Amino acid sequence: MKRRDFLVRVAAAGGSTYAAMKALDLLGEPSPAAAQSGPFRLPRAGGGKRVIILGAGIAGMTAAYELNKAGYKCFLLEARSRSGGRCWTVRTGDQIEETTGTVQTAQFAQGEYFNPGPARIPQHHVTIDYCRELGVPLQVFANLNYEQYYYNEGVPGALAGKKVRAREAKADMRGYIAELLAKAVSRDALEQPLSENDKARLVEFLRTYGGLNADLFYTGSARRGYIAERQGAGDRPGKFESPYSLSALINLGFAGYESFEQGYDQQMMMFQPIGGMDQIARALDKKVPGIRYGAEVNEIRKTTSGVRVVYTQNGGQQEIKGDYCICTIPLSVLRKIPADFSPEMQTAIAGVDYAVTGKSALQFNRRFWEEDENIMGGITSTNIGLGTIWYPSYGYLSKRGVVVGYYNFGAQAEEFGALAPEARVQRALEIGSRIHPQYNSHFETGMSLHWPNIPYNLGGWATYTTQTRQQYYARLNQPDGNIYLCGEHLSYLTGWMAGAFESARVVTQQINALG
Ligand code: ALA
Repeated sequence: MKRRDFLVRVAAAGGSTYAAMKALDLLGEPSPAAAQSGPFRLPRAGGGKRVIILGAGIAGMTAAYELNKAGYKCFLLEARSRSGGRCWTVRTGDQIEETTGTVQTAQFAQGEYFNPGPARIPQHHVTIDYCRELGVPLQVFANLNYEQYYYNEGVPGALAGKKVRAREAKADMRGYIAELLAKAVSRDALEQPLSENDKARLVEFLRTYGGLNADLFYTGSARRGYIAERQGAGDRPGKFESPYSLSALINLGFAGYESFEQGYDQQMMMFQPIGGMDQIARALDKKVPGIRYGAEVNEIRKTTSGVRVVYTQNGGQQEIKGDYCICTIPLSVLRKIPADFSPEMQTAIAGVDYAVTGKSALQFNRRFWEEDENIMGGITSTNIGLGTIWYPSYGYLSKRGVVVGYYNFGAQAEEFGALAPEARVQRALEIGSRIHPQYNSHFETGMSLHWPNIPYNLGGWATYTTQTRQQYYARLNQPDGNIYLCGEHLSYLTGWMAGAFESARVVTQQINALG
């Protein structure tokens, strides 16, 4: 029996083709090491097989790019008039439309831009490999800047409503933890056995690590920076303030901010394409000519030997047939499209939630964060509804700059999303001016978006719970007939372009393995 016939029988018997393919070692999934180092190549020739790809975002274009290299014939349908999907950059004249009917037109100055979707790339993501392969120049994205603030209101203690520099909080917290541990070790208050020699060395390490004095007390250090009088020449040795109290730092919510920054996918270094995130989409787009734009999918059908897709383009209904379909349409949208999916697949498609998230972009005519506050890129975190404020990691020292006025999730995003786009910008300005009063005198133009309202996305990215991951993920990863789902939602890297790239590799390998 041919491998393909066997798999068709497994599927017909209600079995897992994914498991069967794994058992037959047909998936040819890359080893973890291979997954991280390009270039990627499909092993078999495609022999002109026709693959219909729905969606010209990162997943769809990457699938087409990889399949084209192997000799498949790909047909890409894209509902929008541009490629890239969420990998999108808004510049002057570009529009943001929402399902509520609002349309905003960007009025940014030349050279300024806003990435409404992805805006940072970890250095260990496959995205970097694709940037290398596609020739997309990168620059550092300052995801953490020790000058940035933690600003929380309504918390107990002395730091409520205070702009706390990350540097100060980090130096102080490190100092206190080192002090506590050094004392405990010196007094033999720890359970674990340590030789006298180890203890002495650990205490010495902690003294250096935390910036403790000779008596093992943390009393502040130059690490937390100088105040008022900057360190300088002549008679300016510099002064630093006494540290914040341990209790105030705990109450500030430092642990949450610190743990986010320490997340594997948020650690510096991080990167961005020079000139906007869409440089990645544009580079891919050049490799996959013939995308059919304005093609809105109406039906996805199985045929005896393959697939049939009905779509509307230029007001007329059209149909295209192929051997396979790779569908990268987000589940939030796909669940509304008539399709021949099995009942289990339909349930899985309907069962996964999408992130409620939004952003705004505020252009200012003076880079006061740089000029007045020495913040050269980075992200301020706050609990006053904005989530985060992002300072641009490009155009340093120039006149203007576009700041992300809020990037938030969940209930905070719902609140902003319920407002008209202009009102969201006003709210971002009003709230944000509690941190940066300069907002009031330097604002020029702004815009905002609420991802659940963005046509063809209807949400930020797939957000699995432990339960939905267990219930639906395996099913979503199995082909349904000759239809393969693909995108960030078919990965453990949801909400990252890397999830889309990796998923395109998995799906093209699955198809390629069938020979
Ligand atoms: N990957 C997205 C971020 O970094 C969710 O914010």
